[in-house]
Amino acid sequence: VSRQSIAIDGPAGAGKSTVARELARRLGWLYIDTGAMYRAITLKALRRGLNLKDEKSLEALARESRIEMTTDPGYATRIYLDGEDVTRAIREPEVSRHVSLVARLPGVREVMVHRQREMAESKNVIMDGRDVGTVVLPDAGLKIFLTASPEARARRRQQDLQAQGHHVPLDLLIREIAERDRLDSSRPVAPLMPAPDAWVIDSSNLSVEQVVEMITARVRGRF
Ligand code: C5P
Repeated sequence: VSRQSIAIDGPAGAGKSTVARELARRLGWLYIDTGAMYRAITLKALRRGLNLKDEKSLEALARESRIEMTTDPGYATRIYLDGEDVTRAIREPEVSRHVSLVARLPGVREVMVHRQREMAESKNVIMDGRDVGTVVLPDAGLKIFLTASPEARARRRQQDLQAQGHHVPLDLLIREIAERDRLDSSRPVAPLMPAPDAWVIDSSNLSVEQVVEMITARVRGRF
C-alpha cells in the first residue's frame, strides 16, 4: 500500500502546527511535529549541560534518545522523551533560544530525518517542519510552504504567550523570530526554503480557518 503524505514547511509562527493539526483531524491522518523532535533533543542537551557545538556528543545523544508522540482524540499532541512527558518543557524560552544551534548539526539531522521517514512509512501523515518537502519527504503528494511577515508571526506568538499569562514585548519577539529565521535559513544543511514544487501561502492576512479551507479544497482534488 503506498502511503500518502502532506508536507508543511515554513518559518516559526506562521501557523504550521495549528493548520497541520486541523488538516490531520479532518483527513484522519497522523500529525507529526518534527520541530518537537529537535526541541526534545535540545532540552536533553541543556539539562545535561552539554556543549551545543559538540556535534559528536549531540549526535550520540540523538541516537540514544527515545522520542514518542501521541495524539489524543481532540488532536492535541503530547511528546515523550525517554518516557517522560516533555510537552510543556520543550516550549520553554530556553529551549526555543537554543534549538536552532542543535538543529544545524548534520549528525543530529541525519538521525531525526531517518526516524521521520520511518514514521511516514506506516501511516498517512501530515508532517510539519523546515525541510519536510525538501529533504524528509521529497515525494509528498502535496507540499506547502506557509509563511507570514515577522510582525504578524510575532503578534500571534504574543497572543499565545498572553493566553498562558506571560506578557512579552512585541519588539523582543520580532527580534527573536528574525534571529531564528536567520539561523534556519542560512545553515548549510537543509536550510529553510520552499521546495521548488511547493505551494507558497502567505498567511499574514489570513485566519487559520481560511488557510485550512484553501488547503482542504486542494487536497480534495488530489488524494
Ligand atoms: O517548529 P518549531 O518552531 O518548533 O521548530 C523549532 C526549531 O527546530 C526550528 O527553529 C529549527 O531550528 C528546527 N527544525 C528544523 N527542522 C525541522 C523542524 C524544526 O531544523 N524539520
